[in-house]
Amino acid sequence: MAELDLRFARRFVFDHEVEQLQPVVSEAHRRLHSGEVPGSDFLGWLHLPSQTLTAGIDELLTAAKEIQDGADALVVIGIGGSYLGARAAFEWAKPEYYNQLPRALRGGPELYFAGNHLSAAALNDLLRVLEGKRVYLNVISKSGTTTEPAVAFRILRSWLQKQVGTEQAKKQIYVTTDARKGALKELSNTEGYKTFVVPDDVGGRYSVLTPVGLLPLAAVGVEVRKLLEGAAKAEESLSTSSVTDNPAYLYAAARNALYRKGKTTEIFAYYEPSLKMVAEWWKQLFGESEGKDHKGIYPASVGYTTDLHSMGQFVQEGYRNLFETVIRIEHPVSDLDLPSTPDVQDGLEYLAGKPLSFINDQARLATQIAHVDGEVPNLLVNVSDQTPESLGDLFYFFELACAMSGQLLGVNAFNQPGVEAYKANMFALLGKPGFEQQRTELLKQLNV
Ligand code: PA5
Repeated sequence: MAELDLRFARRFVFDHEVEQLQPVVSEAHRRLHSGEVPGSDFLGWLHLPSQTLTAGIDELLTAAKEIQDGADALVVIGIGGSYLGARAAFEWAKPEYYNQLPRALRGGPELYFAGNHLSAAALNDLLRVLEGKRVYLNVISKSGTTTEPAVAFRILRSWLQKQVGTEQAKKQIYVTTDARKGALKELSNTEGYKTFVVPDDVGGRYSVLTPVGLLPLAAVGVEVRKLLEGAAKAEESLSTSSVTDNPAYLYAAARNALYRKGKTTEIFAYYEPSLKMVAEWWKQLFGESEGKDHKGIYPASVGYTTDLHSMGQFVQEGYRNLFETVIRIEHPVSDLDLPSTPDVQDGLEYLAGKPLSFINDQARLATQIAHVDGEVPNLLVNVSDQTPESLGDLFYFFELACAMSGQLLGVNAFNQPGVEAYKANMFALLGKPGFEQQRTELLKQLNV
């Protein structure tokens, strides 16, 4: 179970400030659980882990097994909330060089992600890697109309049809989308694709524990039941409204107190490269949930110790609007002892025999002390290990913290109206029917 350690924030957030928030937190908790918050149509994630475990995931596991048995490579097509959770959990649970490992060591097909950009170069590179492989596609889009995945799906579907024929391609395409509406749902009905549902009441960035994340993860052999069990345990243990007994609420309260003191950028710092995409998932969760009405903490991320040699300078001495949320994995997936090499004068002999995990953790501690000295408050999240269960717990911890945080900030944490602005402009510039007037105005602005 993730534990929040505020030792490195004591100089910046005081107990009484957190305790003073208790009445607000209690009321927000009540409203969250009674569905009275703004965006209350999207609270399905609150009891998703326990409900999914009760309902069972047999159908999903059967489909995952079909993919596992049939595919050399699975391409997951999606963006934002229809992408980041699966990739975060994949990189958390599987080895860094998963795709390069022999199949027997991998436990599933190679896994690639597409539809999360509009780069032809990147997509062409992917097509080259897929050449000659038995490829399955899992296209994921709740709305079924998002441009990036729709473009990638069009290209990959045509490619697959050329490779295996139209009829066989139908058997190698799995769709995760809305239960009733959207272009993808309609196409699935026509083509007879195997489909899974993104529940109506779960928004994209809260959807990792639905088939959005679970199907591709199960297909590559991640223990999704364990992921759900970890989240279900968190659902249970984080059900109290007490700000001091509920670490998710304590985290929300502490960051809110920091925000009110001008700490407007939060840096998610991790010491295992395999957490890079967890950081991206976290950034989307908080960025899209809180950044509205000209309010919100800007979520950034760094991978230490790598970024201590780049962003470290700024964090230590730059503009002081920062705080860090540091994730520590107490027991890393594996370890390595530093060998004794007295013949090499690299000044490291005093560390001979020491595990690399120890050195990494001392670097973490040293950095936290230095950054606190540099006036950067640190919130430490201790995670016992890097198992699917711990990640399920962490997912739920941050989801709940984010929901509470949105309420403390006074925003709707479940919508994302701001992401529409670029889309309307893009459709107008691309000449989409219905956007003619906007196109004329934009071209005028651009002096074209
Ligand atoms: O959190 C969100 O709602 C968004 O990031 C969406 O997940 C993202 O825009 C993709 O949407 P869709 O699943 O409809 O393609």
